[in-house]
Amino acid sequence: MLFRHFASGLLLGHIAAAIPYLVERQDSSILPLSTKGRDILNRNGELFHYVSTNWPGHQEAMIPEGLQHASVEDIVSWFPKLGLNSVRLCFAIEMIDDIYSNNPNQTLEKSVINALGETNGTIVLNQILEHNSQFTKETTRLQVWDAVANELARQGIILHLDNHVSKAFWCCGENDGNGWFGEQYFDVEKWIRGWSYIAKHAKENWPTFSSVGLRNELRSATGAEPYDWYTWYVHMTAAADAVHESDPDALIFFSGLSYDTYIDPIPLGKTLNGTAGTSTEGKSAVFVPDDFAFKDKIVLEIHKYDFENTQDDCETFKSKWYQKGFQALDASNPDTKYLFPMVLSEWGFIQNGTYWNQTTYNKCLIEMVEDWQFGWQHWELSGSFYLQTRPGRTPRTIQGLEEFWGLLSYNWSAVRSPITVEK
Ligand SMILES: *[C@@H]1O[C@H](CO)[C@@H](O)[C@H](O)[C@H]1NC(C)=O
Ligand SMILES: *[C@@H]1O[C@H](CO)[C@@H](O)[C@H](O)[C@H]1NC(C)=O
Ligand SMILES: *[C@@H]1O[C@H](CO)[C@@H](O)[C@H](O)[C@H]1NC(C)=O
Ligand SMILES: *[C@@H]1O[C@H](CO)[C@@H](O)[C@H](O)[C@H]1NC(C)=O
Ligand SMILES: *[C@@H]1O[C@H](CO)[C@@H](O)[C@H](O)[C@H]1NC(C)=O
Ligand SMILES: *[C@@H]1O[C@H](CO)[C@@H](O)[C@H](O)[C@H]1NC(C)=O
Repeated sequence: MLFRHFASGLLLGHIAAAIPYLVERQDSSILPLSTKGRDILNRNGELFHYVSTNWPGHQEAMIPEGLQHASVEDIVSWFPKLGLNSVRLCFAIEMIDDIYSNNPNQTLEKSVINALGETNGTIVLNQILEHNSQFTKETTRLQVWDAVANELARQGIILHLDNHVSKAFWCCGENDGNGWFGEQYFDVEKWIRGWSYIAKHAKENWPTFSSVGLRNELRSATGAEPYDWYTWYVHMTAAADAVHESDPDALIFFSGLSYDTYIDPIPLGKTLNGTAGTSTEGKSAVFVPDDFAFKDKIVLEIHKYDFENTQDDCETFKSKWYQKGFQALDASNPDTKYLFPMVLSEWGFIQNGTYWNQTTYNKCLIEMVEDWQFGWQHWELSGSFYLQTRPGRTPRTIQGLEEFWGLLSYNWSAVRSPITVEK
């Protein structure tokens, strides 16, 4: 394909600088990050690539997962051991709403017991305290996050903060209340207020805090605002303004539509339309980076999973995927209006030792990264969850659920599938 040819040319220029994939210890002296064309640069003007996995902290307890199995220090140590330079930490806006309302349920004790019930919550609370003697049952959620952020900094890991949901539970289901602006739990004002608070807090307290993901996996929903790019534009740029005001240094990741599977209208500079027959009828906007105070902080993020069990050859896989937004990285494409860095902020599959080779997904995805040189954030670290509520599944809530996609084993003490990680 034509773009493959361009890509190889482009690659040569990037090879020398691509070495950061073999990760070195990072520290706050490389911050802030900024963007230039299709690249993310560190403070010294060198290329920076996110090489991460996700660490969820957005479910019912609203603290990062795994603390009943291991200490913050031991969990964080997996990042450098796995060759990662950064983490995508996921949080819920509900955590910030509780700060604003001075909710008395923000202690570790109340958080865990409210999530797991009195009996199991007490057991899990005691396990958390046993592994993490710096905490007491009165420690607040935010103090737990501060401890995680400080340990990440101590071990040289860059912190990317992702707003995963509004109401704290597993993401993402169809019509689960968290999916689109104005849906049941997705109060736009609280979301923006939440960003103002946490971006400022992170800037002041988290030494390796580098960037935010405004919202995970936007998707259509009933009983919400019109599902269109115009509505996306209005709210995403307002939230980005709020982040930039709280922390002018942070990179701001913009996710696309349909579970963040495409974002091509942005690099293509398309008119972002409203929807006929709704409140956005006849309205439109264009996302022009120069319009924004945060113009050198914009990163596009995209997700890619293997739900179709692809057997496509890699040329086909890559050319289909390219159309979803990788025009942002391609200065040689005449249709590209604006260049932006892209980050693959979620990808992954079951870590069972064979899946990596059962479809062409893993192989072609690696080729895509090599062709286009972009950062990635694997889904995910957790060996298991405190609990998981998934609307539409029976049972709806499962405590101590094992995460077979996680890099770590059930009790967070070992790599689940070394062969998968290697491949
Ligand atoms: C705090 O949690 C208790 C349950 O433990 C609940 O009844 C109460 O409504 C919660 N308070 C607030 C302000 O959310
Ligand atoms: C409490 O934990 C036990 C043991 O892990 C489990 O079998 C039980 O289902 C849990 N209770 C609830 C309400 O999930
Ligand atoms: C918005 O509408 C215009 C005119 O119909 C169309 O050219 C453009 O592609 C639309 N934008 C998107 C993102 O679909
Ligand atoms: C791994 O998971 C895939 C997809 O569910 C399945 O087809 C395969 O048999 C599994 N491998 C093992 C060793 O269980
Ligand atoms: C799986 O591995 C085998 C041998 O290592 C290879 O021949 C085959 O092409 C691989 N399959 C895929 C889908 O990558
Ligand atoms: C974790 O699980 C493994 C195997 O299931 C076991 O050998 C190990 O002792 C456990 N570690 C802890 C800290 O419980």
